[in-house]
Amino acid sequence: MGLSEKLEVAVRDIENQFYLDDDFLIKASDFFEKSMKQGLAASKPSKECMPMIPTYVTSLPTGKEKGLYLAADLGGTNFRVCSVDLKGDHTFDLKQSKYKIPSELMHGKKADELFHYLATKINDFLCEHHQETTQKNGKTLKLGFTFSFPVEQTALDKGTLLRWTKSFDIPDTVGRDVVQLLQANLTVLEANVKVVALANDTVGTLLSRAYANNPEYTHANTVIGLILGTGTNGAYYATIDDIPKLKGVPEGTKGMVINTEWGSFDNTLEILPDTIFDQIVDSETTNKGYHMFEKRVSGLFLGEILRVALLDMFEKGLIFQDLYKARGGSLPHRLVEPWLLDSEVLSYIQIDDSTNLKMSELILQNTLRLPTNEDERIVIQRLTRAISKRASQLAAIPIASIVRVVKEQWKGDNRDLEIGCDGSVIEFYPGFRDAIMKSFNVIDPLKGSNKKVHLKIAKDGSGVGAALVAATTE
Ligand code: BGC
Repeated sequence: MGLSEKLEVAVRDIENQFYLDDDFLIKASDFFEKSMKQGLAASKPSKECMPMIPTYVTSLPTGKEKGLYLAADLGGTNFRVCSVDLKGDHTFDLKQSKYKIPSELMHGKKADELFHYLATKINDFLCEHHQETTQKNGKTLKLGFTFSFPVEQTALDKGTLLRWTKSFDIPDTVGRDVVQLLQANLTVLEANVKVVALANDTVGTLLSRAYANNPEYTHANTVIGLILGTGTNGAYYATIDDIPKLKGVPEGTKGMVINTEWGSFDNTLEILPDTIFDQIVDSETTNKGYHMFEKRVSGLFLGEILRVALLDMFEKGLIFQDLYKARGGSLPHRLVEPWLLDSEVLSYIQIDDSTNLKMSELILQNTLRLPTNEDERIVIQRLTRAISKRASQLAAIPIASIVRVVKEQWKGDNRDLEIGCDGSVIEFYPGFRDAIMKSFNVIDPLKGSNKKVHLKIAKDGSGVGAALVAATTE
């Protein structure tokens, strides 16, 4: 039995709002390339412009780098501290600890509250794994700090926060140097650590994949570092002539890794789709009007878009009506409250092929305390698929556009191109990578060449990458 006509019409209407055709993808990719150029030329960051931040990383690793380095990684919901022993043969040994950041520190009043917490965790890690550093006059370790928010970098170890994204909002940090904040708090604890480099997680992922990749065996060169998890972003190596805004680099510098901050692609919504659901989600965020691309693509937002669409259907009297009555005029609070529908839930619903969608019934019951009838589950699955399909199509746009730009650098080399990827959505969301590649092939940036592009998961990329950035310092 299908849905009632009324429900079918309503679902189809929402599916249509999330539909993107091939022409859109091609146009959007041209527009992305134009936005990259604008961002690389603009000397001041602005809302209209994709940040395209020079990172002061001027070359990619060869796989021969050696030594013991620390890395600290602040990006999503966890803070990770690791030590990386680079072996010089594309391999490394890794020790790491992960700490869930207390949510009150993510929205605190003072930057030092958060940075003191981070420094304490680094110190705890040293006490547990590297006692040789903890005595007075002990060995000082160099640390690469992965800080996955838009930062205006002025040197490898200097960068001021432009704005918070994802779930962070500590206003007094904006405009301050995050390396100094971390170093000052480490110094208070007398930790033998020197913060020598700042890296975005995408830069870390690019570097760690480039280190692990041996092109002799994979027949591919690593060209992009991509994150698609809570947030989304990418980094790539640009030749110096392509970065007009970069002034005063040492003679002989051939190029630099650029942190695109593609989450802020098309903040002014010239071409991005903008459904009423996207508008509601944006209105609930602390960085309204910014990172508009990210808000359509990454894990933090997919569940929220679905939640908002379901509430809209409820308000139109189409779903959850019996439930509402049975509860005496209310809906489960986890459905009503923003941000509680995790995109992991969508990843199960996406591929549920059980009879009557029984698996989804259980998952919705367990995660949202939401009882559903079969029609409601059909609706939820169709909307989930429409939202995730649009996200995968959109995710292909920056990848294809950057590939079109960097393919010039590899003209004389017949190996394939590969993209180091990290993040829960790209790693775990069923079918997401295949769906991205489908749209990538529609845009077809490698037209006329025999090269192919491979998406490679670079596990722990950002930590190892930060260590690699630290390894480039004297
Ligand atoms: C941040 C980026 C980061 C990305 C993935 C975005 O919200 O602005 O700096 O790379 O999330 O973590």
